[in-house]
Amino acid sequence: MREQETHSRYVRELLDFIEKSPGCFHLTANMAWALTQAGYVRLYERKPWEVRPGGKYFVIRNGSSLAAFAVPKKEMAGFRIMASHGDSPTFRLKENPELELEEKYVRLNVEKYGGMLMSTWLDRPLSVAGRVMIREGETIVSRLVDVKRDLVLIPSLAIHMNRKANEGYAFNARTDMMPLFGCGEKGKLMEIVAESAGVAAEQILGSDLFLYNREKGSIWGAKGEFYSSGRLDDQACAFASLKGLLSSENDRFAMVHCVFDNEEVGSQTRQGAASTFLKDTLERIMMALSLTREKRFRTLASSCLISADNAHSVHPNHPDKSDASNRPCLNKGIVLKYSANQKYCTDGVSGAFLKELCRQAGISCQTFFNRSDMAGGSTLGNILSGQVSVPSVDIGLAQLAMHSAYETAGVFDLKDMIRLAQEFYSSDLMMEP
Ligand code: CO
Repeated sequence: MREQETHSRYVRELLDFIEKSPGCFHLTANMAWALTQAGYVRLYERKPWEVRPGGKYFVIRNGSSLAAFAVPKKEMAGFRIMASHGDSPTFRLKENPELELEEKYVRLNVEKYGGMLMSTWLDRPLSVAGRVMIREGETIVSRLVDVKRDLVLIPSLAIHMNRKANEGYAFNARTDMMPLFGCGEKGKLMEIVAESAGVAAEQILGSDLFLYNREKGSIWGAKGEFYSSGRLDDQACAFASLKGLLSSENDRFAMVHCVFDNEEVGSQTRQGAASTFLKDTLERIMMALSLTREKRFRTLASSCLISADNAHSVHPNHPDKSDASNRPCLNKGIVLKYSANQKYCTDGVSGAFLKELCRQAGISCQTFFNRSDMAGGSTLGNILSGQVSVPSVDIGLAQLAMHSAYETAGVFDLKDMIRLAQEFYSSDLMMEP
């Protein structure tokens, strides 16, 4: 019973963290706050970096991707990097978002961000969060916005108006997914947004605003063994990686925690995993420590990376959708992901490395492959390998309903992921591919 209470405590902490992080901008700000509380110093890409042995630092790009690192006290042997992503599929508000309908309704004009399960966004209270830009002197600066109340909703079409609704329906983002915002005249949205941001509506020069699900996270099931929330993919791994970093020490390896934006749209942005963000950060750490060029190559060659992004559990109603002999499920431990086409970067060597870390940490590990006739998804690992070419492994927390507005995972797995992050950050175990 006490064991279950410990697991649930971690999950409640995660659900609080997710509630405060309706999108990437808030997630980044919340991680920055936690890092600052723990003595990490913020560095800026635009300014000189003073990095000392034993020091702890973090850097942010675009307000939506973050890399935190702890420099070892002794001569640095390499980097131990854990990467996850902070964005989740949602809807983005377009410019001029308000649309009047017959002087009766005001809807919001939105477009899809990422590949969501559209039906899961219907008939539930939603709100708006993100950032707005204002001018301060000679600079355009951003202010976080979270309206923090039930503001809009996307109503389903009644069964009487679509008798075939239960026989498979193709949702159209243009016609089916416009959230209802008000009755009567338009013009209120930016006032509400401005008030939430603490600025005047006329000061707002630009915005990145997204919908989010207002439903609170919940622990449920016969013995409280499941939990559900929006954005578990991939804030759960970002949270576990951060917790692991903040509770680990390593006096030989630099510990690096990074969380990227834009994974759900392919990572090819200035701050995504395909960008130079991680590479630039590692190079600047080594430059600030005055490592010779040759020593930098040696340091990178002695580094390793875990890409942590949620994984598909066997579905209770669709067990046939999973692979024949690699069938991860909730509450059975860390999921190690493989793909022959290298959608996942795990190979025999890094898989062995991960299994050994799990064994050292006393946690269980299960394996995932796509069913051989299914393409499956992809993630950060192979994309990061293009910029930072170090031995790497793809793992995740098992979950159901990936890319739903309300996803489900196992209460007993979260602590294992935190424990694995600690083991990875603090261990000196190496790979020799
Ligand atoms: Co993901």
